[in-house]
Order: sequence, then C-alpha cells, then structure tokens
Amino acid sequence: MKVLGINGSHRKGSTLILLEEAFKELEGFDTEIISLCDYTLEYCKVCNACKRNGGVCIVKDGYQEIEEKMKEADAIIVGSPVYFGSITGMLKTLFDRSRTLRVNWELKDKVCAAIAVGATKHGGQEHTLQAIHAWALIHGMILVADSDPTAHFGGAATAKQVEDSFEIDEWGLKTARSVGKRVREVLTMLRK
Ligand SMILES: Cc1cc2nc3c(=O)[nH]c(=O)nc-3n(C[C@H](O)[C@H](O)[C@H](O)COP(=O)(O)O)c2cc1C
Repeated sequence: MKVLGINGSHRKGSTLILLEEAFKELEGFDTEIISLCDYTLEYCKVCNACKRNGGVCIVKDGYQEIEEKMKEADAIIVGSPVYFGSITGMLKTLFDRSRTLRVNWELKDKVCAAIAVGATKHGGQEHTLQAIHAWALIHGMILVADSDPTAHFGGAATAKQVEDSFEIDEWGLKTARSVGKRVREVLTMLRK
C-alpha cells in the first residue's frame, strides 16, 4: 500500500520535518513525500473543462504529476504551515485543482490525515487542520487524526527557526508521529 506525503509549504522546512516524523511509523509501506515548492502550479481557471471531459485539466503544469501520485496513493498525509491562520496559497491551489479528481470520485475511500505547524502556540494550527479536513471530506476520503496517545485533530506543532535549522516542540513532534501511527493502523485494518 502506498502512502503519499504532501508538504504544502513554500519551502522545505519544519512541515517537511514533521511529515518525516509521521512517516517513521510507516516503515514497510511504499512511501513518498513531495514538496509543492518543487512544482509549478497555476490556479484553477474555473473553465469547467474537467467537468465536461471526464476529469482532465486542460492547464498543463506540475499538477498532472501530483494528480497521478494522489491517484496511486492509498493514504495521503497533508502537511501545511499556518499562513495567516490557514493553509498556504500553494496548498489551496492544489486543492482547487484537485476538482479533476472529484469528477469520478478518485480520492474517495483513501485515508487522509493532516499536520499543521505555526510559529506560535495557538497560531491557527487547528483552523489549518480543519481546512485540510474540509478538502478530504469533500472528496469522500476516510479522515483520521492523531488518535492515541495524543488524540486530537492531527499533527499540530510550533516551530522556531534558528538559522538553517528548526526547533519543533516535543508535543508537536509526538502528534505528527501519532498521525503516522494512526494511518498505519487504519491502512492495516482496510487491508484485512
Ligand atoms: C505568510 C506567512 C504567514 C504566517 N502566518 C502565521 C500564522 O498565522 N500563525 C503562525 O503561528 N505562524 C504563521 N507563520 C509562520 C509559519 O507558519 C511557520 O514559520 C512555519 O513553521 C513555517 O513552516 P515551514 O518551515 O514548513 O515553511 C506565517 C508565515 C508566513 C510566511
């Protein structure tokens, strides 16, 4: 079974570290983490072509590669930094473009979990997680959170950048790890 991690940050920083923490629990699965900053993503043009032609986006850019990876995945863990209390612009752009996959419900029944990181405590992590949850639910995905032992809404962390490295709070790292564990548990149940 394949698990895809999507780093919604505009760079490879603390969100990527938290995704890597979650993926430590996914040994034995076919895993890949992609960073949106490695792709060019245009906005959805609302041309509605995808709705008429069976889900094909006529804008050709980095989206097609990501779309293929999302189709192949059994589970997707989406990570985002908090930008003004919510997800990043790049991640929202990916979500909007993913309308192509809703035409034939291609993300339905895939497992989804979310991780959010901000610079401050109470900086909007929960709202950011909920923005990712909305995307997953609208696609009919099986939404999971961090479950035990941390058990709230997914990975939620604070990160402080010190030169080129990041100090991430211990509890936040634990919640990310719990997300990986929960995805593993649910995928294992579904495999039975
Ligand atoms: C445009 C912008 C807006 C931000 N808004 C918030 C915010 O509302 N709350 C918060 O806690 N941190 C905010 N931050 C800080 C980032 O969420 C934080 O530095 C995060 O660790 C960055 O993730 P990254 O290292 O994966 O890029 C913002 C950063 C940027 C660049």
